Amino acid sequence: MRLALLHGCNLNMLGRRDPEHYGTLTLEELESAVRVRAAEAGFSDCLCFQTNHEGELVEKIHELCGILDAMIINPGAWTHYSYAIHDALELVAAPVVEVHLSDTHRREEWRRHSVISDVCSLTIAGKGLDGYLEALEWLAERTANAQR
Ligand code: DQA
Repeated sequence: MRLALLHGCNLNMLGRRDPEHYGTLTLEELESAVRVRAAEAGFSDCLCFQTNHEGELVEKIHELCGILDAMIINPGAWTHYSYAIHDALELVAAPVVEVHLSDTHRREEWRRHSVISDVCSLTIAGKGLDGYLEALEWLAERTANAQR
């Protein structure tokens, strides 16, 4: 079972961004916590990737679209306007969970809309690291059921 954890723009700056919204964990710490839990949940592989270049994220999604069992993605600000990432995610056969550290629905108006939600199986926002772990458990269960 292969999982990918993808992050978009500015998420490499976690630990330095506003802790009220994003907590204090660095991206490395967040990825380590997800990797540990992914192994416990039965994923053999947890590929972690972050970029500040939209085209690179699109290309990474293309590369992974046929070889994954599950994906967690937090595209950062691209969530709110990138139809290119929307269209790339449409190609992913595996279930995709959209995760946001902050509660985007309780912030500025422009953050309230996600252009990728309709191509994701589930969206979790406002739970910090716990949101990623919840996404992972949900995907592990769903992937195991699909393989039964
Ligand atoms: C974010 C929310 C986005 O609005 C913002 O641009 C981010 C991070 C989150 O995880 O809460 O960079 O996706």
